[in-house]
Amino acid sequence: MKSLIILISGRGSNMQALLEANLDVDNITVISNNPSATGLAIAKRFGVQTVVIDHRTYPDRITFDTALAAEIDRCEADLIALAGFMRILTDGFVNHFQGRLINIHPSLLPAFPGLGTHARALHEGVKIHGCTVHFVTPQVDHGPIIIQAAIPVLFDDTEETLAARILQQEHLIYAQAVRWFMADKLKCSHNHVSIDDMTICEPILYSPGLQH
Ligand code: GAR
Repeated sequence: MKSLIILISGRGSNMQALLEANLDVDNITVISNNPSATGLAIAKRFGVQTVVIDHRTYPDRITFDTALAAEIDRCEADLIALAGFMRILTDGFVNHFQGRLINIHPSLLPAFPGLGTHARALHEGVKIHGCTVHFVTPQVDHGPIIIQAAIPVLFDDTEETLAARILQQEHLIYAQAVRWFMADKLKCSHNHVSIDDMTICEPILYSPGLQH
């Protein structure tokens, strides 16, 4: 029995990509900290169990994280995938799930952690931008990198066009990372993730080609 928990706060397009990916899992639960997250309706359409744990009803970060951790433990999750979960997690939470907590971030980490990644990439004039799936450590948007996708930044890109092309790649690499994890193909030593998959020759960079 493999169990996946997907944590969302809003739109849920990465969650949807995981739900559409035909993953080899027996149980998926979607948890949102935001009762208005549009991703909740999408999850229900897929017939997936949804849970809302509204952070605004908890007095502080620690009590919210404790309730969230209890729900995840109750589901006996093998893997917890943060998919646009816009909450800073306490060290206690992160350490409790170390090695089975992953995140997707819209930049080529360690560049541009935090918010506004596409605007900052355009402002800096980078020529390559992308997205990263990584194991979560207490430092926000850091941690051992599992897979990245890189795309060229085009001369006429806006924040919106760049975000849209990167989101397509996010959907591909997140499903790939979860597949590897569930197939027990990821080995993490110190800050390095190796992938035991003979079908790929360049495991940590997913390069989709020059898609416009
Ligand atoms: C995605 O772009 C994801 O990478 C980003 O939020 C968006 C959520 O979209 N996550 C972060 O910035 C985390 N630091 P989605 O709800 O449609 O998946």
